[in-house]
Amino acid sequence: MKINGTSFRSVWVDEKDLWSIHIFDQTRLPFSLDILRLTTVQDVAHAITSMQVRGAPLIGAVAAYGLALALRTDSSDTSLEQNATMLAATRPTAINLRWALERMLNTLRPIPPENRVSAAYAEALRICNEDAAQNEAIGKHGLKLLQDLAAKKEKGQRLNILTHCNAGWIATVDWGTALAPLYMAHDLGLNVHVWVDETRPRNQGAALTAWELGSHGVPHTVITDNAGGHMMQHGQVDIVIVGTDRVTRNGDVANKIGTYLKALAAQDNKIPFWVALPSTTIDWRIADGIRDIPIEERAASEVTHVQGRMTDGKIGSVQITPDHSPAANPAFDVTPSRLVTGLITEKGCCPATESGLLGLFPNHT
Ligand code: MRU
Repeated sequence: MKINGTSFRSVWVDEKDLWSIHIFDQTRLPFSLDILRLTTVQDVAHAITSMQVRGAPLIGAVAAYGLALALRTDSSDTSLEQNATMLAATRPTAINLRWALERMLNTLRPIPPENRVSAAYAEALRICNEDAAQNEAIGKHGLKLLQDLAAKKEKGQRLNILTHCNAGWIATVDWGTALAPLYMAHDLGLNVHVWVDETRPRNQGAALTAWELGSHGVPHTVITDNAGGHMMQHGQVDIVIVGTDRVTRNGDVANKIGTYLKALAAQDNKIPFWVALPSTTIDWRIADGIRDIPIEERAASEVTHVQGRMTDGKIGSVQITPDHSPAANPAFDVTPSRLVTGLITEKGCCPATESGLLGLFPNHT
């Protein structure tokens, strides 16, 4: 996507600096657009755990490059296996991380150690290119849904889309999942408006989605996480579209904490609730999301404190709870498939069911 007229991806290798990788430091947005240069596998692991990079497809792509960086130092079998295990443990919920590392291992294991480094960079780049292409395809399929809804509206009325967390281009290599159809609709002149859930505790909606949409000129309004149900009851939401960190073969959806409540409110108000994902987010090995998807528990300090720009212009955090009140911080929840209207994938849209998914991806029967 473009920032001030220049095209960027969310992770890239600079032609003048071939062995390092570059990312945007997402902990600094929307206040400061800082590029970070990662040169070791430890840098990559830190970037993922500290959420300098985040979003399911992006952490998979960055971890793939992390393995390439590790092999530059030591390309032995032991290094390959140990670093893949270390990177896979950086965040537990998004399956894309494990998917990318397994793909790297399958590619690299048969290659002699002395040839592994260039093969690793090449495979990581292929993962990035495929992610960008898949998200663009998701955008086209999702666009059709938006066009159909817009056609039912009276002339001049805006189409209101609600989204949760950030499933935009900086959560993927390019385009985004949930936001890709919105970018395409806006670019085609559709009158779209996005309700952006702030997405406590880390505020990915308020900080990242609002920044992305604003940079692209897409009309949007940030709302508190608790406002969505009210908006739906008052006819202010035409469709909900979110991304996901893991979808089971039955169509259960793990996404940022609070997604489930939006799905419940959407069902109560008969509003379509769609989930956009590349097929790399499907965990074909499990069916019951509530039982089997591991939910990341993050630091209590993310709940007890809020980060923002201080009056002196510096980025800092302030405490919002009493000194001794404990806080719990489950980072994701699972929306059961029965609450999901459908899935938007790179192969098209389908019901959130095993047969729906297998119809698009028959190799997984
Ligand atoms: O904790 P995060 O910020 O990595 O969580 C991200 C999300 O929940 C996104 O909605 C999801 O990864 C889909 S990204 C295209």
